[in-house]
Amino acid sequence: MTGGQTVSALDELNKRILVCPDCHLSQSRTIAVPGEGPEKVSLFFIGEAPGWHEDQQGRPFVGPAGQFLEQLLASIGLRRNEVFITNVVKCRPPGNRDPLPGEIAACSKYLDCQLDIIKPKVIVTLGRYSMTRFFPGETISKVHGTARKKDGAICFAMYHPAAALHQQSLRRTIEEDMRKIPALLAKLDKVPDTKEEPQQLSMF
Ligand code: URA
Repeated sequence: MTGGQTVSALDELNKRILVCPDCHLSQSRTIAVPGEGPEKVSLFFIGEAPGWHEDQQGRPFVGPAGQFLEQLLASIGLRRNEVFITNVVKCRPPGNRDPLPGEIAACSKYLDCQLDIIKPKVIVTLGRYSMTRFFPGETISKVHGTARKKDGAICFAMYHPAAALHQQSLRRTIEEDMRKIPALLAKLDKVPDTKEEPQQLSMF
């Protein structure tokens, strides 16, 4: 530490992610994309993996899907710097292919650490890959727009914003699901906690 500046746990973690050699995506990436947002934040969004734009800039959701995510956030009165945004996999899979199981497994420790540090109240999964982690065995067509409480956080599933860019019919669905989030945040204190299996919340 110099000049009186403290290095936060998140800064330390980001440094590790930026030089991570733990899967072969480290050989094809331009810049790893740890994620960004304040350390003290209630809402935590998890996408799939960086795309071309993200790989160039080292920032999550800065391409077309990111622009739509920003519009969705604006629809509930939020800006991107008021939430935390990250991905299941921190490095771009070549050609934007789906992340492989080994890549997801190698990267999951970083998401664990981010969740440990930030302790968000609401975790929003964007797309199948992050949904699987919090809603195992479920399908996104069934589970989107619903919430479960797990280990003290509410997990809320949404389609990936890129899906709406490719499939116009999903656009309304994603917009409607996003508009459920303020009610979730408002009801946080009224939701009973459980350390057992995730439970379906009856609010939606
Ligand atoms: N899609 C994702 O899942 N994550 C990004 O960061 C960008 C696009």
